[in-house]
Amino acid sequence: MRITMVGTGYVGLVSGVCFADFGHDVVCVDKDAKKVETLKAGGIPIFEPGLEDLVRKNVKSGRLNFTTDLAEAMEGADAVFIAVGTPMRRGDGFADLTYVYAATKEIAALIKGYTVVVTKSTVPVGTGDRVEEIIREVNPSAKFDVVSNPEFLREGAAINDFKRPDRVVVGTDSAPAKAVMRELYRPLFINETPIMFTSRRTSELTKYAANAFLAMKITFINEMADLCEAVGANVQEVARGIGLDKRIGSKFLHAGPGYGGSCFPKDTLAIIHTAEEYDVPLRLISTTADVNEARKTSMASKVVAACGGSVDGKTIAVLGLAFKPNTDDMRDSPSIAIIETLQAQGAIIRATDPEAVHEAKEIFKDVTYCEDAYTCAKNADALVIVTEWDQFRALDFARLKSVMQTPVMVDLRNVYQPDDPRLAEFKYDSVGRGAN
Ligand SMILES: NC(=O)c1ccc[n+]([C@@H]2O[C@H](COP(=O)([O-])OP(=O)(O)OC[C@H]3O[C@@H](n4cnc5c(N)ncnc54)[C@H](O)[C@@H]3O)[C@@H](O)[C@H]2O)c1
Repeated sequence: MRITMVGTGYVGLVSGVCFADFGHDVVCVDKDAKKVETLKAGGIPIFEPGLEDLVRKNVKSGRLNFTTDLAEAMEGADAVFIAVGTPMRRGDGFADLTYVYAATKEIAALIKGYTVVVTKSTVPVGTGDRVEEIIREVNPSAKFDVVSNPEFLREGAAINDFKRPDRVVVGTDSAPAKAVMRELYRPLFINETPIMFTSRRTSELTKYAANAFLAMKITFINEMADLCEAVGANVQEVARGIGLDKRIGSKFLHAGPGYGGSCFPKDTLAIIHTAEEYDVPLRLISTTADVNEARKTSMASKVVAACGGSVDGKTIAVLGLAFKPNTDDMRDSPSIAIIETLQAQGAIIRATDPEAVHEAKEIFKDVTYCEDAYTCAKNADALVIVTEWDQFRALDFARLKSVMQTPVMVDLRNVYQPDDPRLAEFKYDSVGRGAN
């Protein structure tokens, strides 16, 4: 099959390279000429484990190509994937579909033979209908189907998630489109991955329902962590105690500083707005979004409390900036609200992250970036673990203490145990397990 991937961001690049690795011919297109240049020169614009090798292998085989020219990319394509961004619209929180519709118009004008246009971007219910209308308006004689095929990959584990997904959801009622989608995902049939065919609207909604549920699960355990702190219980043990129940499951029950990233914050708000348009209140999801927002500032308050009630003029060392380990993605990372809240209260911020510093530099003013945890901790009044990179899981506490002004550690990811004897000389606080 010949595939065109429109948008070569996290999702477009990972999907494109994995489809090429399945044996299809893939051309990835992006408007960002610099990104395409980097990719053509063998570079990778994002950090994602395993991606560079897989891209190199498939470029070498001739099955994966990059271009800024959509017409060239769509030559003979069986399927054109739309994998452009759908960010939160400024001001009202709806999904911004500008990029999806702009891409649709460009694609429409270039459709020649029967083409399956697939929305891989996360888009609100009904977007597929509008994409179909736009194509008809621009190119009335085009033979095509519009299919919804949302992506469930996680950054940091994206290749494995794409190649070994729990399921693939395909939304279409068209038999020829189903046949094309079946062929595209054929290698997964061999692995017995459930491929679920549904209506387009059901497929579009399934993606939002999945993200909203996961966001709710995280928020649930975060609230339990607050209660644990108040009553003297341990949230990690509560999470294990409930997670072993198969009806609940142990994933996404790690208490922490609140969810962030490029998907959960925007997708929860988008589904709330969709529901409002249809007059259906989604009170659980609305509350989840509110609780998560408040949590970020309450995490900064935890740091202030650990510093004796004020951070004014104090140096805080922040370990981890990306919204989770193994990615350089800073979009809606909890580190942003935490750092900005601390800065607003007079804190001096030093920070380190194995991959996200180049992204962080675009966001923060007045942050001193450091090579590693120990340089970061130099003269600090407190150290805060915000992202649980492996590099921060086996810190040398004696070395940290020797460089810090005061040995205070706030572990927002519960990487260490409060009763760890090596922490005896530290004032240590974490999430939902009490301080030492
Ligand atoms: N990042 C994730 O983990 C993830 C997971 C699942 C789903 N999604 C969804 O996938 C979609 C893409 O997300 P992303 O994180 O890959 O976004 P991204 O911002 O990293 O990439 C989007 C790319 O599309 C390009 N683009 C925009 N308009 C274009 C056009 N007309 N022609 C060619 N290129 C164009 C941009 O230059 C950019 O490189 C979003 O809807 C997102 O919600 C993301």
